[in-house]
Amino acid sequence: MNFSIKKICCIGAGYVGGPTMTMMASKCPNLIFNVVDINEERIKLWNHKDLSKLPIFEPGLRELITKTRGKNLFFSTNIKKAISTADIVFISVNTPTKIRGLGAGKSSDLKWVEASAREVARYSEGHTIVVEKSTLPVRTAEVIQNILYSAETNSKKEDISFSVLSNPEFLAEGTAIKDLETPDRVLIGGENEMAMLALSEIYEVWVPKDKILFTNIWSSELAKLTSNAFLAQRISSINSISAICEVTGADVREVSRAIGRDSRIGSKFLDSGPGFGGSCFKKDILNLVYLAEYFGLNEVANFWEGVVNINNWHQRRITEVVIKKLYGTISEKKIVVLGFAFKANTNDTRESAAIKICKDLINEGANLVINDPKVSAEQIENDLQIEENSSGKMKGEASIKNKTGQWSFSRDLNIFNDAHAVLVLTEWEEYKHIKWDLAVKEMVKPCWVFDARSIVDIEMVKKAGIKLWRLGDGSEEEKMTNF
Ligand code: UDX
Ligand code: UDX
Repeated sequence: MNFSIKKICCIGAGYVGGPTMTMMASKCPNLIFNVVDINEERIKLWNHKDLSKLPIFEPGLRELITKTRGKNLFFSTNIKKAISTADIVFISVNTPTKIRGLGAGKSSDLKWVEASAREVARYSEGHTIVVEKSTLPVRTAEVIQNILYSAETNSKKEDISFSVLSNPEFLAEGTAIKDLETPDRVLIGGENEMAMLALSEIYEVWVPKDKILFTNIWSSELAKLTSNAFLAQRISSINSISAICEVTGADVREVSRAIGRDSRIGSKFLDSGPGFGGSCFKKDILNLVYLAEYFGLNEVANFWEGVVNINNWHQRRITEVVIKKLYGTISEKKIVVLGFAFKANTNDTRESAAIKICKDLINEGANLVINDPKVSAEQIENDLQIEENSSGKMKGEASIKNKTGQWSFSRDLNIFNDAHAVLVLTEWEEYKHIKWDLAVKEMVKPCWVFDARSIVDIEMVKKAGIKLWRLGDGSEEEKMTNF
């Protein structure tokens, strides 16, 4: 069967669905893209006249929205209509780690994927290509297929049929538009060759054919998990080395540069930082761990779980360094936290290292002033589950029970007065240009800058007389004498 593609539906207007459909719409003006979501508020923001109100921040997104929205790209909550008229349905809903039941803490909760598949089964007409766009545990396509194929045989509508494809998205937040414009590869997994070619034709409008890879559906699902696991593993590896650098007098930036020159290793993803965050890395590795355990491959499970364990340990390690350097106590000391997003150029905070580090610092009694150019105070409150300016009062808690430590938010950077320390957690460009010679005048002496992203101007910090700690910098540390 040859498929003629005119209308596309995407269920899920999130960090993946939104930018992906916007890019496709801008490249394929002859196709109609309906992006639907159950979250009315989110859809309102996607349709907001003021583009600064879009629900996600991505460099270059506003320009593409201006080009496409209302022309061939539409955001709505009318899921039924969007599915019934679609030739292709992308499922791009979120798949968080299960918090209870079988596989809790490791496997992904597929309830929204399942719900989406059921809606497709209910509302679709004719032949529909259903594409898994969310990152999913291996063999999820089977769940979708079972629901859809059962609809094929049981539906009163005679002519409905489905092809299920896996087409994982590899974009990284903060560079989503660039990644979508020039992807390293597009992966299409499936069995129905005509459906695979139909999807490929959309990408071929702007992606060179040799970058489009066809695999079976299970390889496609596993390749996405593996890709994220390998990337995260590099970060855990270099972060573990940063701890060794600090005690031996080595410098992790020099080590990264040196090993990255080996073409077999490559230079990317070797920046030591406060620990990886984001919606995918931890979740996808835990999915791999669950899969390996399920099949009795315990050594494989342990190997990958180690990547997540090091990441947790590393985040705690940063808090401990701050406490140690501030003479063993941070109670009632003001600490400025620069950055809350899990990386620069996004307003996303999912799994951000800042969440755990800030919670730990508040629990130790510190008074934090948190700055982030894109994340809102409401989001931070949600993540920390501690009310702003409340001496550690948990969200919804009636009274304050002997808690010290609090946090407040500031969008501007005029926040160094009376601070004992500044902790850099996200590599926002503005933090590279802080005038430390002015900031120091307002800080409590001796004062510290803890740079977990290697971005501050070292010379200026030192010249200002501020004590500097950089992740993985052993040059200032006591050297180990006995190996
Ligand atoms: C990402 C990736 O897609 C995925 O690979 C990863 O597994 C989880 O996170 P993302 O787009 O970043 O997804 O998620 P999110 O920003 O939470 O967006 C998902 C959207 O789906 C939300 O807006 C949510 O309201 C919507 N949704 C969820 C539906 O429309 N229907 C549902 O049944 C469930
Ligand atoms: C990741 C994958 O890169 C992407 O291909 C996939 O589709 C989704 O998951 P994302 O999580 O958006 O993308 O961002 P990424 O740039 O990978 O960063 C993830 C985390 O690793 C961030 O917290 C980042 O700060 C950290 N990181 C990244 C480092 O600490 N050091 C590095 O060298 C690179």
